[in-house]
Amino acid sequence: MGIIESIKAYEILDSRGVPTLLTEIVLDNGIKGSAAVPSGASTGIHEALELRDNDKKRYNGKGVLKNIELINSLILDAIQGLDIRDQKNIDSILLRLDATKNKSKLGANTLLSVSLAAANTAAKVNNLELYQYIGGINTNLLPIPLVNVINGGAHANNNLDIQEYMLAPLGAKTFNEAIRWCSEIFFNLKELLKSNNYSTSVGDEGGFASNFKNNYEPLEFLLKAIRKSKLSPEKDVRISLDVASSEFYKQNKYKLTAVQKPFDSQKMVSFLSDIVKKYPIFSIEDGCAEDDWQGWKYLNSQLKNSIFVVGDDLFVTDKNRLAKGIKNNAANTILVKPNQIGTLTETLDTISLAKENNIETIISHRSGETEDNFIADLCVGTNSKMIKTGSVTRSERCSKYNRLLVIERNNN
Ligand code: PGA
Ligand code: ZN
Repeated sequence: MGIIESIKAYEILDSRGVPTLLTEIVLDNGIKGSAAVPSGASTGIHEALELRDNDKKRYNGKGVLKNIELINSLILDAIQGLDIRDQKNIDSILLRLDATKNKSKLGANTLLSVSLAAANTAAKVNNLELYQYIGGINTNLLPIPLVNVINGGAHANNNLDIQEYMLAPLGAKTFNEAIRWCSEIFFNLKELLKSNNYSTSVGDEGGFASNFKNNYEPLEFLLKAIRKSKLSPEKDVRISLDVASSEFYKQNKYKLTAVQKPFDSQKMVSFLSDIVKKYPIFSIEDGCAEDDWQGWKYLNSQLKNSIFVVGDDLFVTDKNRLAKGIKNNAANTILVKPNQIGTLTETLDTISLAKENNIETIISHRSGETEDNFIADLCVGTNSKMIKTGSVTRSERCSKYNRLLVIERNNN
């Protein structure tokens, strides 16, 4: 048994130096568990609300003292005395306390910090690793990491429209090998950039944030770096993209900086199909904007048989938006970010709906992260095929990869 006795919430910093929440639950038997929540930059308009103080005198309005107050009063009163193992009950109480469509009363960040802390604490009570607590005994799949090595868009101060260029080491026999390959490619890429007098400073997710001639040039660099690492860009390591196109969708057109005339949906899909024809692409995320359903239908019809067509801002981890996507054949893969929706139960419901409909799941970090590695266990616990958690540099990204390395080692 383990009964919730008290909760402590703290205002800590994320990887961009912006405040976020760390919440700790203490049980009557002295067992404690905690969780810290991440924060996005290219957030979808349909995401649940991230509550902040908006007090300009502190942290430029980004403080989370209001959230801490809510946790210490309203939330503690409602869940004190409950069995920590009853995650569904705890989450449904949190949802009832908020009772808004987009979590605007208590904030998805507030709810998620409590929800994930509850799961971490319950795993300890059950003497289980978190991924086993989440998924039971049939959880032994280590994911393909989508490793972000070139940053653009809202994550870097450079000229790339495409937000993320990632390595997808699909041919690696183990997770360990996948990480080694990506690290070796990362350093070969660094050498190549240096020798071309390109900057090797990094962006928010740890990938290089250099300026490039156009959106294709990073792909050429990646091919060279993969080959320089004695790997095949077809069989061993392909390339994944997050276009994050909602960021440059204005007045129903895609406004890429390098292109004079903005693209309509058809042209945008042709632009991406062309990239898939010319390069060894593994997946494309948010190739169309969050409400361009016609564009998505066309994109998926063109590419679903050759690559993973991934919805992030499109689905925002919301099972209702995913259901609409399934009905409309809009994508074959969903990106899962727990803080887009607010509780672990809702996240797991969305993953279940995806699995029932043969939609692949990618568990994902946010561009503002902490050292918390809950998503690594969530990925293994839900047998998700892929994880997206940034570059192989920066500890807030490596912490997820390092946790997966430990899980793999302990299972062999
Ligand atoms: P975000 O970016 O965390 O800034 O939203 C990640 C993504 O778009 O996948
Ligand atoms: Zn995205």
